[in-house]
Amino acid sequence: MSTPLATPDQFGIFLPDQLDQAEQFFRTFGFVSLRGLFSEAEVLAMEQECISAQDQLTAGTLHKRHGTEILIEGDAGDKAARFSNYVTCVTDLSGAVTDAVHNQTILELMDRWLDNEHWLLEQQRFGVVYQDARPGKESSYTRIGWHSDWQSGPHLDIWPSVAFTFHIDATSPANGFLRVVPFSHRWNTPAPFVNANNALVPEGSAEAAGHSDQPPPFEMPLGFEKVPGEISLYCDRGDILFHDAYLWHSAARGTDDDTKRRHIRGTFHSGTEQLDNDHLDDFVKNAAR
Ligand SMILES: [Fe+2]
Repeated sequence: MSTPLATPDQFGIFLPDQLDQAEQFFRTFGFVSLRGLFSEAEVLAMEQECISAQDQLTAGTLHKRHGTEILIEGDAGDKAARFSNYVTCVTDLSGAVTDAVHNQTILELMDRWLDNEHWLLEQQRFGVVYQDARPGKESSYTRIGWHSDWQSGPHLDIWPSVAFTFHIDATSPANGFLRVVPFSHRWNTPAPFVNANNALVPEGSAEAAGHSDQPPPFEMPLGFEKVPGEISLYCDRGDILFHDAYLWHSAARGTDDDTKRRHIRGTFHSGTEQLDNDHLDDFVKNAAR
């Protein structure tokens, strides 16, 4: 077994022959990055196919189910009509992305973290999503406030869940990055009854969920405020970032409008496969302020 990379710039980053360490790190902290699984040729193919789909969507030549206005920021105006931040259900449009989400190493990690019946959210409303969160003026989505993914569906039987993000662009303060609170996946985080996401909590929702009964030591912030113990996660091109659906996370806007922050994201779930995810509308729209 290889020795985990030990320098500070590689904290939480593991190679494909270090799955035992990656598995354990994820269980401990609620997130982990896998580096070197995809070749540059595979990343380039995903990039080119997603850009092509994005261009087609902006040009109005794709079926409307590949676009969404739900995910953009509230004051976007008609910018969203001129630039598409998202291409939804992108596995239908990109063979390279389809191959990537069925990569055997990723499926092995899901076998470790979820029950054996785990499934990819692929054909539901958003499916696997190509996300272009560039900070430039043309962009209608640049950041998202604190949340756990579980809060998007506290009434559903699809948890636990693991999210993946395939990075097309390396992340940095210039183009934006993910903020996370290590260990927060263990807290029994409340559904968003009072937080600023203003999401209606659906009937039948669990009041709280996490990997233990321990309540959070402080409330989840209302927007983008600093959380004690939060850290910034930076990834390289080609890195896969996994995070637990109970992990507290947010995304910071980039500071350089000439940069891009593009990635492909999706989720593997346990529990019962859900086809109706209209409940996501309010939650996502209000969190992406
Ligand atoms: Fe999220």
